[in-house]
Amino acid sequence: MAHTVTRTGWATRFGLIMAMAGNAVGLGNFLRFPGKMGPYGGAFLIPYFLALVFMGVPLMWMEWTIGRHGGGFGHGSTPGMFHRLWSNRISKYLGIFGILLPAMVGIYYIYIESWSLGYAWHTVTGSYWGKETQAEMGSVFAQYLGIGDGAISFNPKSYIFFLIAFSLNIVIMTLAISKGIEVVAKYAMPALFVLGAVLAVRVLTLPAHEVTTMVNGAEAVTTFSVSDGLAQMWRVSDWSVLKKPDVWMAATGQIFFTLSVGLGMVHTYASYLRRHDDLTLSGLTACGTNEFVEIILGGTIVIPAAVVFFGVSGMQRTIEGGTFAIGFQALPVIFQQLPGGQFFGTAWFVLLFLAGLTSSMAMFTPLLLFLEDELSIPRRKAALMIGVAVFMLMQPVILFMHHGLVDELDYWMGDFGLVLFAAIEITIFSWIFGMKKGWKELHEGADLQIPRIFYYIMKYVTPVYAITLVLWYVRSGLWNKIIMKGVDAADVPYLWLARIMILGVATFLIWGVWYAWRTHPKFFKSVKSKEDAA
Ligand code: PHE
Repeated sequence: MAHTVTRTGWATRFGLIMAMAGNAVGLGNFLRFPGKMGPYGGAFLIPYFLALVFMGVPLMWMEWTIGRHGGGFGHGSTPGMFHRLWSNRISKYLGIFGILLPAMVGIYYIYIESWSLGYAWHTVTGSYWGKETQAEMGSVFAQYLGIGDGAISFNPKSYIFFLIAFSLNIVIMTLAISKGIEVVAKYAMPALFVLGAVLAVRVLTLPAHEVTTMVNGAEAVTTFSVSDGLAQMWRVSDWSVLKKPDVWMAATGQIFFTLSVGLGMVHTYASYLRRHDDLTLSGLTACGTNEFVEIILGGTIVIPAAVVFFGVSGMQRTIEGGTFAIGFQALPVIFQQLPGGQFFGTAWFVLLFLAGLTSSMAMFTPLLLFLEDELSIPRRKAALMIGVAVFMLMQPVILFMHHGLVDELDYWMGDFGLVLFAAIEITIFSWIFGMKKGWKELHEGADLQIPRIFYYIMKYVTPVYAITLVLWYVRSGLWNKIIMKGVDAADVPYLWLARIMILGVATFLIWGVWYAWRTHPKFFKSVKSKEDAA
């Protein structure tokens, strides 16, 4: 069957930038960033910015380039795209990561996103008002997730919000990109900026607060102000932190996560670009917008607010309670003490939900386009298949939440997976496809000439950095992760379930690539790109 490329692209450049920024701006900016940075203070920002310049931004440019290049051949996902960069037999199989990772992240991400929606509702109705300590809010959270003595974690109330978030994601994905993703991003992102600004101003104008802390075993009352909170963000109080490889790994990992690079989603969005559309300025703008939201908005709201109300050590203790403790337990305690707290609390959870939605709606698009482009399945049918599969895979994530399924998926897919896939794609782009061709491709139709130094950064620094990082992961605990060292025996079967889910989806994708290769001429025929041929 002849394949024709009938995809329509982005309607406007504003829409594209908002969608790309929305893809990057997510729960990671507001929940993960404070969690990673909190323990280290301002020193964290040094490796963080270095990773941004030497890894994040170059990789973002590469992914836009790979996406537009592959899109020109009618590929919307990385197996086809990698094949166009490197016509080795293995390249298309390496591209499977670019479908597997975002889809498997989506499986738990949508659930977390649905909590924000649920909490927005509970804040509007004030249902948890009166639970004024973090411990009490901790039980509210466990109750919301349905975590108790039972074998499964289930709460019909939170399940409804899961169903809403899930359906929204699937419906948006089914629509054409300019009608679904672009429209949502165009409205949701500006709304998110406004909500973020309102909350940031609220935090900046908080009065100082007295906090009871323990000093040398005795209780002491200390006053904390917003400037103490901001100092915790920006001042380097302890340089020795930089000697720990952990900080470097955490900071670089956060850059991957927050920019949504090393996943495959950026490629898919970029595959809708036309040959002469700009990549350089747009890619940089997407990075810049994400960093503004993460450091300025996210950074001004979460850590400073927690410091004012709980002190520096209180904030750090909260973070130790897990990635979600600050957003779902600490901040609700604060809102309850503020005049108009219900308003600000609702703003916070709606903000989280919008940030989550504009990211998660990208997560299944690589899979959708793979089914559409490479396996010639019509879009609606493909979307239905994905909807059913995702729904089924999400059930164990929800019901066995308390057995650590999410953490297991997050480690393999959202943490180590990103770094590994990034190292693979950087190597293919910079060394195999070659920086010379890559640089030219990147600058095709460019609105911004990138300083030449980045040519060398992308050729030497970024690849070596990425490979080193993979080796660090391997050295520092990969093996213990594999053998599940220190895992509670009761959780072991559930972690295996998570792995089987990953392997199951991976097997399907390997089969899909093999099948497409066998049956689908577009994969191996050296067709010229759409515009070249026209
Ligand atoms: N960048 C988004 C975020 O910060 C989406 C994302 C999720 C990226 C998971 C990678 C992994 O939340």
